[in-house]
Amino acid sequence: MPTRTVISFARGVPSPDLLPVAELKAAAQRALDDDPAGALAYGDGAGYAPLRQWVADRYGNGDASRVLCTNGSLQGLAFLAEAMFAGSGGRAVVEAPTYDRAILILRRFGATVEAVDLQRDGLDVDAIEAMCRAGRTPGLVYTIPTFQNPGGTTLSAAKRERLVALAREHRFTILEDDPYGELRFAGTAVPRLFDLDGAAGTVIFSTSFTKTVAPGVRTGAMILPPALHARLRALATDTYIGPSMLAESTVHAYCAAGCFEPGVERMRLALLERRDALVAALDRHLGQRVTYVPPEGGYFLWVQFPGVDADALADRAAAAGVPVVKGSTCFIDGRGGDALRLAYSACPATDMDEGVARLAALV
Ligand SMILES: Cc1ncc(COP(=O)(O)O)c(C=O)c1O
Repeated sequence: MPTRTVISFARGVPSPDLLPVAELKAAAQRALDDDPAGALAYGDGAGYAPLRQWVADRYGNGDASRVLCTNGSLQGLAFLAEAMFAGSGGRAVVEAPTYDRAILILRRFGATVEAVDLQRDGLDVDAIEAMCRAGRTPGLVYTIPTFQNPGGTTLSAAKRERLVALAREHRFTILEDDPYGELRFAGTAVPRLFDLDGAAGTVIFSTSFTKTVAPGVRTGAMILPPALHARLRALATDTYIGPSMLAESTVHAYCAAGCFEPGVERMRLALLERRDALVAALDRHLGQRVTYVPPEGGYFLWVQFPGVDADALADRAAAAGVPVVKGSTCFIDGRGGDALRLAYSACPATDMDEGVARLAALV
């Protein structure tokens, strides 16, 4: 049998043609020309100062003292989980489904993880309120409110207001994990939880250059209230002295040269084309056998296959050269066995039909 090329819906990464290779090459050169000592130093545990300022200006009211740049945003989550839960334990709420690695990290540092359902308009805020009223207020609500991974959904504006108000009333912390928020290609923008919170310090904001520049730069950033910032900076220093200054100075040079916006725009256009191609292929090959909510941005489409063992389907699909993510890996309680996460970010639009046709043949 001739080997078929792999068409991957598995990984939430940009395809190689979307990576800004020339721009990053030039940015690395500029970083080394303009600030060789800074780019090649151990640096500060909180990250490369000019990049912290760029992040503060774009996402955080200009206050760089609250920005922590880390080797990937997942590292920031690990530091936060360690600061909040290691030794003391505590309750962390995640969405069901959610990003599987976040579950692993929260548990690794001792959090008791509970899940609240994701609805078409995002997290079920009523369920969080019920938990609080029942005396089970969590320490942390970990949410991916915009173009959720894996659900593709976005938390509505009204629910955002309520969630922030609840957090203030019941004194829990919200982590707004937002690596996809820049990547809206349809619909209307909604305010960030971080902006609704103002200066209250109830919401921690996390972003990443993985989905907007390249995963390999391993650069993420968090905006934290002062006390937590100090704690996480100390953890960062104790863990790796400083994050990669070469990477962060390169990302800074890329952003300072005005490459960020055009890069994001390129990504949005490609993602829109890919989402449309995926939706058209699903309609053509699977029609009424599947249900999904088309995302307005980001990388993922969550597909429900009622009555189908999607775990087994995912195994067959991998063998047929169409890797996908099993829905069940995104829940803490064994649900999701009838769903798959399809990432359209890494799949050129021209391959979409063939990929979905292969998948449909296995259902
Ligand atoms: C919701 C979410 N948070 C964090 C990450 C990890 O990002 P980074 O590459 O910055 O560590 C991902 C990557 O898929 C993600 O989907």
